[in-house]
Amino acid sequence: MRAVSALRGTLRVPGDKSVSHRAIIFAALAEGDCLARGLSPAEDCLNSMQCMGELGLEVSVRGDLTVISSPGLKGLKEPKKPLFVGNSGTSARLLAGLLAGCPFESKIDGDDSLRRRPMQRVLTPLTRMGAGIRYEGEQGCAPFLVDGGTLKGATFKLAVASAQVQTALLLAGLQASGETRVVVPDRIRDHTQRMFTALGVPHDDEGNGSIRVSRLSKPIAPFDFRAPGDISSAAFFMVAAAIIPGSEVVIEGVGVNPGRRLVIDVLRRMGADVEEFNPRLECGEPVADLRARYAGKLRGVIVSAGEIAAGIDEAPILALAGAMAEGLFRVKGASELRVKESDRIKAIAANLSAAGADLKEFPDGFEIVGSGRLPGDSEWKTCNDHRMAMTGLVAALAAERPIAIDDTSCARISYPSFERDLQALLV
Ligand code: S3P
Repeated sequence: MRAVSALRGTLRVPGDKSVSHRAIIFAALAEGDCLARGLSPAEDCLNSMQCMGELGLEVSVRGDLTVISSPGLKGLKEPKKPLFVGNSGTSARLLAGLLAGCPFESKIDGDDSLRRRPMQRVLTPLTRMGAGIRYEGEQGCAPFLVDGGTLKGATFKLAVASAQVQTALLLAGLQASGETRVVVPDRIRDHTQRMFTALGVPHDDEGNGSIRVSRLSKPIAPFDFRAPGDISSAAFFMVAAAIIPGSEVVIEGVGVNPGRRLVIDVLRRMGADVEEFNPRLECGEPVADLRARYAGKLRGVIVSAGEIAAGIDEAPILALAGAMAEGLFRVKGASELRVKESDRIKAIAANLSAAGADLKEFPDGFEIVGSGRLPGDSEWKTCNDHRMAMTGLVAALAAERPIAIDDTSCARISYPSFERDLQALLV
């Protein structure tokens, strides 16, 4: 049996990635100098900044403060080169919605993983509004060209509960004639609505997942906005503290948006001690400090199809919690995991099975018969997926014998200092 270190201490995680992308891209709706504080230093967000720079915004990062000088929607200029979004699906999809209303042609491209991800879920509805879309490689995938211009509003009932698609269509709707209504099937992250309210972007929340917008009649005022800490990053420390005896970690200033907080609720259902304190509202987003403490072995639970959207990015680290729990842990209705930065169901199944977990894979999820321990003595393949890398690093701490991770550098996609922050907590 290896001597396992506990995690003890207090930390802050980087700014929320979803919120940061939106702050950078929504600055195009304003005219003047927008201030964004606490943005994520993730490579994904740097790619959004770079792309907005190509479109005529000026972005300068000064420590915690990012100043985004925007010429407004009418001042956006045709990019001289393809907009390269790297690994970031959020950048690709949100930019497509923004560019659909711009009277020029732009090309969006990304890395190998991005090129495999489904883009038609946003591009097909955009063509219905009047945008011209051309795929350069495989149909439905990047690289693609957006020939933007005159858009007509429409009503969309989304088949996939996707905040990215919803946001892209609302960005197009803000540039379209008539009304655009986007209806989502399940509870999803509502950062866009909250930010629209905080920044003064007119929209109607009609209830039942339906949001309506019309053409923005004038630029919004330059904003001063703060992003909360990223719960998707905090999740790794919460789970680590819940599965490694003797741990107690405080994570300050974490966003606990109802469409993102499933990881807290599931951990509590599993018997973990996760406390929320100092609840507050910052720029329209609920924020709290979190304390996670080891409280004995976790027990397996079922995560249902209706709730998984609020924890879809946390599935890899929740799977590790499931493997370390006693009893049946099951995730259902999560076929979206197959089209994330990697096929995460396959990656979770391969890595946890190799480490000795009793795991069964389904088309839309997985189940683990937890034994309360992870033997380890295995190799962990990150598949170039940041969340698989960080899950692997936590698994290596919790396992009885070593787990060799092939390449952890991809953590930079969402959390460049993850390994350092994790090390700093080990006692
Ligand atoms: C995101 C929405 C989710 C999530 C992704 C970020 C967003 O994707 O998995 O990491 O910022 O809107 P979908 O919209 O595809 O569900």
